[in-house]
Amino acid sequence: MGSTLKILLLGCNGQVGWQLQRSLSVLGDVVALGSASQADSEGFCGDLSNLEALTLTIRRVAPDVIVNAAAYTAVDRAESEPDLAHRINALAPGRLALEAERLGAWLVHYSTDYVFDGSGTVPWREDDPCAPLNTYGRSKLEGELAVRTYPRHLIFRTSWVYSARGANFAKTVLRLAAERETLSVIDDQVGAPTSAELLADVTAHALRMALTRPELAGTYHCVAAGQTSWHAYARYVLTEASVLGATLQCGAEEVQAISNASYPTVAHRPLNSRLNTEKLQLAFSLHLPQWQIGVRRMLQEILGAPPA
Ligand SMILES: NC(=O)c1ccc[n+]([C@@H]2O[C@H](COP(=O)([O-])OP(=O)(O)OC[C@H]3O[C@@H](n4cnc5c(N)ncnc54)[C@H](OP(=O)(O)O)[C@@H]3O)[C@@H](O)[C@H]2O)c1
Repeated sequence: MGSTLKILLLGCNGQVGWQLQRSLSVLGDVVALGSASQADSEGFCGDLSNLEALTLTIRRVAPDVIVNAAAYTAVDRAESEPDLAHRINALAPGRLALEAERLGAWLVHYSTDYVFDGSGTVPWREDDPCAPLNTYGRSKLEGELAVRTYPRHLIFRTSWVYSARGANFAKTVLRLAAERETLSVIDDQVGAPTSAELLADVTAHALRMALTRPELAGTYHCVAAGQTSWHAYARYVLTEASVLGATLQCGAEEVQAISNASYPTVAHRPLNSRLNTEKLQLAFSLHLPQWQIGVRRMLQEILGAPPA
């Protein structure tokens, strides 16, 4: 038996990070750090805005793999905090790439459909041109470029992430539907809701293969199968929640469709968030489940099992 793999996981309390704590644990010893891990009892710092302490931490842990699930994910707030978004989403991944190179470690990183401008209706491929519409998207694209300066990496671009733990669209819809009689939701942004569980499981599988086949390094789109609009997604959540016995003021039929143009937000968002996942499925022999399967699981987790 070879020596045990040492994995440094950053952002361990986010939606994806929390699931990675579980999925990576079968590959090796996981040192899991969150943003609040400021010079803990072992002197480790998990704050990506503190580049010097982060560097020292990586050198002390000396991992075989760095998995970065931490990110500045507040899309609208990023417009008024561009420097912080840039530091966490672009400078920190650059630092991780430098330190990974120093150690000869693998670097796993996550990015977003927001690197694209959302034009057209065709699912984006990995090598399609990027043109982010907002500060968050630009900072994530810069992070990708920084990670790619070091060849031994896996970047997973994903979209519309949810999990039972953490804040996300489905949970917001449930909360609002319990309080209001109608909801208005955008119907011309299209993508695939993707569970943090799926991302974490794919990461563990792909990483395991890449460790013995370094030619698999690269950027991959990783989202659940199928596509939907936010409006149809909201209706699906409320239909399923009602089957599960949730008390709602607003049923699925009371969710009104509105256009992106009629709902201005601080940051512009892409209309076409479809991601083509053929490359991932072929490279790692993976099957990606339909998006509804994971959403239903999350609702069962949040609301409890259906009545007998
Ligand atoms: N959520 C989505 O819909 C979505 C869509 C596409 C791509 N992605 C990408 O997927 C990845 C995982 O996202 P997620 O959904 O798991 O996001 P999340 O639930 O918002 O988690 C992000 C994590 O990053 C941490 N973080 C923020 N600032 C930090 C800092 N300065 N130092 C260390 N950690 C910091 C947060 O910790 P605190 O809470 O303690 O600040 C949080 O645990 C990210 O790369 C994101 O860009 C997400």
